[in-house]
Amino acid sequence: MNQEPLVRVEGLKKYFTLHRGKVLKAVDDVSFSIRKGETLGLVGESGCGKTTVGRTLLKLYQPDSGRIFFHGEDITKVSGSRKKELCCKMQMIYQDPYASLNPFMTVGEIISEGLDIHRIGSSRAERSEIMYGLLEKVGLHREHANRFPHEFSGGQRQRVGIARSLAVNPEFVVCDEAISALDVSVQAQIINLLMDFRDQMGLTYLFIAHDLSVVRCISQRVAVMYMGKIVETGSVEEIYSHPAHPYTRGLMEAVPVADPEYEKKKVYTPMQGEVPSPVNPPPGCRFADRCPLACGECRQKEPALRQVGTDHLAACCRL
Ligand SMILES: Nc1ncnc2c1ncn2[C@@H]1O[C@H](COP(=O)(O)OP(=O)(O)O)[C@@H](O)[C@H]1O
Ligand SMILES: [Mg+2]
Repeated sequence: MNQEPLVRVEGLKKYFTLHRGKVLKAVDDVSFSIRKGETLGLVGESGCGKTTVGRTLLKLYQPDSGRIFFHGEDITKVSGSRKKELCCKMQMIYQDPYASLNPFMTVGEIISEGLDIHRIGSSRAERSEIMYGLLEKVGLHREHANRFPHEFSGGQRQRVGIARSLAVNPEFVVCDEAISALDVSVQAQIINLLMDFRDQMGLTYLFIAHDLSVVRCISQRVAVMYMGKIVETGSVEEIYSHPAHPYTRGLMEAVPVADPEYEKKKVYTPMQGEVPSPVNPPPGCRFADRCPLACGECRQKEPALRQVGTDHLAACCRL
């Protein structure tokens, strides 16, 4: 059965023009698809373009080229009332809920805002009931509705952020580093909450993180980004058991494993250097300057994604 994925992206490019006409290629020809109910983990170091992918998908940025499909409909250029309808269907959960929650609004007002804008519920009383129900669903209490964001802990604020995003009944949610700023114990609670919602509401996630270990427990599929490009993608089983791209392997080596024997044997080779600027990227493979396997060809020819296993693609000419 060849079912249309919920979200499909083809050749997405988003460039930012900086001063003196310099062009920053934040997202440079990215393609992927996400099936309904599935979670795609999007991983890579800071600055590789993950947030820009998420924001472009949600129509907060207009792409420079490429196409975005939702339920098979080309939504790349939608505007007006259709765009507003899509805002309900596609939501975002942010890394720093403190920055994204209005400090002058009560939690009840914050959660109700989307219900009011999109006229969900037939009366004010019904909207209030939906809001209280959401508070309870995310593990808070009715009494919390009258409090302000600063009165909550980081984990509780993220619960408010989740309730706000889910209030409008989305189908697709971009979780942009949604747990990265939280304590490890709280991270697990929020991941469990997100997984419960996925199962109960049939949600589909793009789960963005810089940490490979976090993505593993929530995703079915993973895409690894480097300087605006996807360098490796595949099922979680494939990527974690046979990482192919030297960049993915470098990221994996950096993740500590809770097994002292494994850690003792691990030959820790931290990646050299830093992510170069995506302004005027070098010709050839963008990872070449940091890659232990790089050869002359790597600096001339840009590698394309190609099959390296079942449901597993990587872009490296040394494989
Ligand atoms: N609005 C913007 N204007 C100019 N440059 C931007 C803008 N947003 C992001 N960038 C740049 O695009 C690149 C990718 O950024 P981003 O998508 O935020 O990466 P990530 O989320 O992976 O850390 C970075 O070099 C960043 O500085
Ligand atoms: Mg980001």
